[in-house]
Amino acid sequence: MMVLKRKGKWSPEKNKYYEGAWAQGNGYIQMRASFEEDLSGASQDEHYWRLPANVTLEEARNPVSKWGVYVPGIYGKHPILGEEIVNLPYPMGIQLYQDEERFDMGLSDYSDFAESLNLKNGVLTRHFVWNTAAGSLEAEYTRYASLQNQHYIVQRAELTAGQDMEIRVESFVDAAVTTNGYSHFTDTKLFHQEGLWAEITLDSGQMVCMKCFCKFEDGDYYKEESSRTEQRLREIWKLRLKKGEPFVFYKYTIIATSLDWKDEADGMILSGPFGDLLRLRERMVTLELDAQRLTLKAHEEIWAKRWSESDVQIVGDKRLQDSLRFSIYHLLRAFPWSSQAAIDAKGFAGEAYFGHYFWDTEIYLLPFYLYTTPQKARSLIEFRYRMLEGAKKNAARYGYPGARYPWECCQSGLEQCSNWQYGDMEVHVTADVIYGLWHYCKATGDTEFLLNQGLEMMVETARYWCSRVDWAGDTCHLLGVMGPDEYLAFTNDNAYTNYMVKFALKQTLETLKIAGGERKNELGVTDLEMEEFQKVHDLLVFPYDEDAHFIWQCQDFDHFADVEFDKVWKDRSKPFGHFISQEKNYRSKALKQADTLGLFSLFPNAFDQETKKNCLEYYEKITTHDSSLSYVIHALVHAGVKDAKRSYEFLQKSMEIDLAQRGAAEGIHIANAGGLWQAVVCGLAGFSGVGKDGQPVFHPALPEHIRAIRFGLRLNGGRYQAEVTADQVTVTKEVG
Ligand code: BGC
Repeated sequence: MMVLKRKGKWSPEKNKYYEGAWAQGNGYIQMRASFEEDLSGASQDEHYWRLPANVTLEEARNPVSKWGVYVPGIYGKHPILGEEIVNLPYPMGIQLYQDEERFDMGLSDYSDFAESLNLKNGVLTRHFVWNTAAGSLEAEYTRYASLQNQHYIVQRAELTAGQDMEIRVESFVDAAVTTNGYSHFTDTKLFHQEGLWAEITLDSGQMVCMKCFCKFEDGDYYKEESSRTEQRLREIWKLRLKKGEPFVFYKYTIIATSLDWKDEADGMILSGPFGDLLRLRERMVTLELDAQRLTLKAHEEIWAKRWSESDVQIVGDKRLQDSLRFSIYHLLRAFPWSSQAAIDAKGFAGEAYFGHYFWDTEIYLLPFYLYTTPQKARSLIEFRYRMLEGAKKNAARYGYPGARYPWECCQSGLEQCSNWQYGDMEVHVTADVIYGLWHYCKATGDTEFLLNQGLEMMVETARYWCSRVDWAGDTCHLLGVMGPDEYLAFTNDNAYTNYMVKFALKQTLETLKIAGGERKNELGVTDLEMEEFQKVHDLLVFPYDEDAHFIWQCQDFDHFADVEFDKVWKDRSKPFGHFISQEKNYRSKALKQADTLGLFSLFPNAFDQETKKNCLEYYEKITTHDSSLSYVIHALVHAGVKDAKRSYEFLQKSMEIDLAQRGAAEGIHIANAGGLWQAVVCGLAGFSGVGKDGQPVFHPALPEHIRAIRFGLRLNGGRYQAEVTADQVTVTKEVG
């Protein structure tokens, strides 16, 4: 299935799901799959206070439709929620009128509705026949975010009337939009100038410019007076359609922002907002020249290259194959245009998580890029380096030296999580960032990055940890932390966190040794400080019961209350969190998601099989999987203990998350998409990184019905093709 399809009756209940699940993007422009026209009952300008809320339980607003057009790196400042992504003016508007009748999927009489998203080339197509009072009008809209020029959205409309008919077409851009109920626009200039222009200044000081213009193929049409309301600009055409003769027109949208030259050496004489505005206008003129040379073919060639680098073939399981390709599509689409941004938790397909970046990046997403297109993995790590100054300020705000990466990161590196429990306590992200950095350097051999930017990140975060720990005699502890299981908010010595911190300190010490004295001096690291790193590494406790071969999630885990799941969790189709107060949840043994088990997927060789099995046995029974990040870890760990059957059961649950018609309305679960890739490639096919000899290592756990898994891998500059079958692993080195 490289083409997703739906047809029949359009359903308002499912509309938002499709808007999210079928989102398109090219890295610079990201857009939800909303319709071209206004939908009745789906106002886009609703203002409301979205207040800090428990993320598992929050009810979303805008039930029928939510437009969303985003540029990663463009953000606004919310007075309570901090920095968030900005929903930009909607530029894709095309409205059809026949006389006074307006086409609206919710109100009009139509037939033959069909919509599809082609995962091969990211093209969205909608077809319908509108039965107007004057007869039928067949319409087909297609659109894509161009990969040939990432500043462009290209739309095509083909209209065929069943009889001669005159219709009116309105192309519009609409600035009456909000992000999470809030408008970040401090200045909105809308004007006509050979098209529709929107120049927006945001409360972050950034600027965005959009221009929309239409091109008509031959046919009988004329332009009417353009029109505007306060927040909407329109260009209007009258078309005289001839029975059965298709009429085609294109709408182009160019988007440029003040981020575009951030990485260039600045030779501008005029700086500040006025300079930015001049530069933006200049840039728009240059970009517009490109409209002539844009072709679908060129766009498709770039998509084809991406697929050839990243595809995974699964022989014998169509559902898994389809689901993985759907995930890969989103991983390719959502990857940002520059290291000025990372990938937000909703894959830029909605606003639910404010466009924030979490540990999802390093732990769930990075491996896919690292082993298919390593330069993209580097961009994600570079983003964290860009955030280092912010992370230092963040540590200082909490009263610590060094750098503390925020649980929820946006564009400054300062903590953006408005719920104190997560923001204050979920400190493991700082160690996860170093894990990601180490993983990248190990798989690519990029020692230059490791010894320069990487070591700086390591040293600064190590300084933070040394100050964050508490000492009790000759052991040291991380008190008051939230592990990945967010249903225990305030715990001591969370095994996952402590292990990751120890790992990060170990890598820091080893890298300092390799880097040598000069680099050490540059970073101001003294021998005494290195001893401190070593001491914390050695004496930070890890709650492991050696006799029982068991890891406690945290020191005090057994003291939390037992839950009678069957009594409390009355309807398992809803999250467990809906059936218990937060207060009670916080003192109970009910896990939101995989916590300790995460260690076995990150360090497959560090623990014995008995420990893994005991932990699976114990934690699985009390894990609610209320977070979409949970199933894939269980799938990976079961594969690690060679239980292909259980692993596959968890994979099936993970496949449903965004493909079944729920969940994706407020954006897709991109961590699950990256996790699914890992569960197939690193779980079932058993790829577990590079061995001591620099060659890839495999420990497959293939379910019986899967005959083969084939995929490409990039390691240490080399390119490999792998094929895993029931009785054999074949790895061919292609290049390098
Ligand atoms: C999960 C976190 C995750 C976040 C963003 C939460 O529901 O518990 O682990 O980082 O979503 O995906």
